[in-house]
Amino acid sequence: MAERTLAIIKPDAVKKNAAGGIIAMIQDAGFKVLAMKQTRLTPAQAGEFYAVHKERPFYGELVNFMCSGAVIPIALEKDNAVADYRALIGATDPAEAADGTIRKKYASSKGENAVHGSDSVENGRIEIGFFFSESEIAANVA
Ligand code: RTP
Ligand code: MG
Repeated sequence: MAERTLAIIKPDAVKKNAAGGIIAMIQDAGFKVLAMKQTRLTPAQAGEFYAVHKERPFYGELVNFMCSGAVIPIALEKDNAVADYRALIGATDPAEAADGTIRKKYASSKGENAVHGSDSVENGRIEIGFFFSESEIAANVA
């Protein structure tokens, strides 16, 4: 069944001009881009986006990193999009990411790991709404 998920190209990957390569990998894997933009998060926005990790020791570092430069959020659609996109990006720590995954190719460390992916259909819906209006999405629905 067609599902939606939110990808973010994180500041480390934008800085090293990896966005084009990452978008190509996503499209080659069969995902449709519903909406995409380049923006920069404030500390408050990054803190809200990753609020689920508020109590974790890496939270402050994560929020600082996500505000350290431009990010490229991308709303994606595909059958089984959530699980298939998580498989395409690979494990959180690039040292554990499988060959052929985005993080294996582009991530530098467990913290600076090139891309984000929603972890459920419900969170995908919430996260797409965090970055995109209904009309921005609707314009690109077939
Ligand atoms: P994401 O949410 O960004 O797609 O990553 P994920 O599901 O693979 O990993 P998650 O556990 O949700 O962690 C969110 C992000 O926090 C940073 N992190 N740093 N230094 C550390 O031990 C550590 N652990 C996590 C990463 O940027 C991770 O993607
Ligand atoms: Mg996560």
